[in-house]
Amino acid sequence: MKLPSLITCRIGVIGLGYVGLPLAVELSKSKECLLTKIKLERRVIGFDINKERINELLNGYDLTKEFSSEELKKADFLEFTHSEERLTNIDVFIVTVPTPIDISKQPDFEPLKNASRLVARVISRRNSEVLPIIIFESTVYPGATEEICVKIIEEETGLKYRQDFGCGYSPERINPGDKQHTLTSIKKVTSGSDLNVAQWVDKFYGSIIIPGTYLAKSIKVAEAAKVIENTQRDLNIALINELSIIFKIMNIDTLDVLSAARTKWNFLDFKPGLVGGHCIGVDPYYLTYKAQQLGYYPEVVLAGRRINDNMPKWIAEQLILSMAKKEMIIGGQEVLILGLAFKANCPDIRNTRIIDLIKNLRSYGLLTTVVDPYVNINDAEMKYQLQILNKIPKDHKYGSIIAAVDHKEFSSITYEEWLNISRKDTIYIDVKGILPRELNPIRI
Ligand SMILES: NC(=O)c1ccc[n+]([C@@H]2O[C@H](COP(=O)([O-])OP(=O)(O)OC[C@H]3O[C@@H](n4cnc5c(N)ncnc54)[C@H](O)[C@@H]3O)[C@@H](O)[C@H]2O)c1
Repeated sequence: MKLPSLITCRIGVIGLGYVGLPLAVELSKSKECLLTKIKLERRVIGFDINKERINELLNGYDLTKEFSSEELKKADFLEFTHSEERLTNIDVFIVTVPTPIDISKQPDFEPLKNASRLVARVISRRNSEVLPIIIFESTVYPGATEEICVKIIEEETGLKYRQDFGCGYSPERINPGDKQHTLTSIKKVTSGSDLNVAQWVDKFYGSIIIPGTYLAKSIKVAEAAKVIENTQRDLNIALINELSIIFKIMNIDTLDVLSAARTKWNFLDFKPGLVGGHCIGVDPYYLTYKAQQLGYYPEVVLAGRRINDNMPKWIAEQLILSMAKKEMIIGGQEVLILGLAFKANCPDIRNTRIIDLIKNLRSYGLLTTVVDPYVNINDAEMKYQLQILNKIPKDHKYGSIIAAVDHKEFSSITYEEWLNISRKDTIYIDVKGILPRELNPIRI
């Protein structure tokens, strides 16, 4: 069977979230191929099982805030659908579905398995001389793409891997909300089921990625590279979080220490904080799960995870301790929590550790008000049964204020404006180092 045309192939992107939507939009642009300079004329079907998401996209609304309505309207060669039938005649499938963890922090492969079953159904109905190529972008442990996804496709179609269909793995490195590190501006790791397919996958991404691609030795190597990028980041933050706990006991300001240490050329610049989101706080568990299956207990990686997962409790305790020292009555005190998203300037609340912070504070009888200008109010209600506000209430004074996320709207609040929402004895907890020093905040 021949490989799909790099210029006119028909592409199906399965899962239109933070990763899938930007990819579908970019691939559908009719522009010059960066490698051959030939005009790309690819048709893209963007498929998602979430009908609401599809309807919103069809109406020009992107909940992830990566695209404006005008940008979505410009994507002429992109069709949004939740109908499986529309995927007929696709040459290249790109699977970008979530890979979360369950309540016991074990990998949840259900979305990936369901997407593999969907691809299997579609390619078994296919009638073409062109070799279908299925590229996976979801973050997994090394080996999972072939052990789980390829196995499902083989079993459900009766087709033979490498002979009747090819596979690729190309991890995504985008950073939602970051307008500098975008899909086409970050070097992309590629891989494939055999040399021919690997080179095809490499050229496929090379056609749109400006800094180029890196063709990994195998799918397993590419999977491992992705999972360690986030594991390394998680561990670096865990170290700084542990240091911040030690420095608190020593009565030293962690951010002051970091400013001093950063002057050395090879000091790694990490800050303490809550590690949430769909990647850094999740991906290491995929690696540790597989390592344990293979009989190795990963001491360091899991220690880092424990430290990071424990930070919300530790932050809540700092507030309670400070209230106790001031002889304040704890039950019924009002706490303003600034930020619910797992990181700055983005509406993503998946796996946000601020939920743990809220639970901890409420367990002491504190009353919490959560404000996040980016987060969709219905999204917070649906995911966490949490009522939030998009704006800080005016003329209300809080007993405690926790700056949990460094959204630009919070970083730009002036000293006088902070005082307007504070009492004389307000306690400030500064998780992200954004509060004015004059407020004398407890810095994490
Ligand atoms: N968000 C990031 O910054 C980021 C960065 C790099 C890698 N990743 C990885 O990329 C993958 C996707 O992440 P995301 O952030 O885009 O997730 P997301 O939750 O934003 O989007 C996933 C989409 O897939 C859809 N979906 C779920 N099951 C499906 C199925 N069976 N068929 C079709 N659609 C389905 C969902 O409805 C959702 O719209 C994950 O493995 C993640 O770890 C994410």
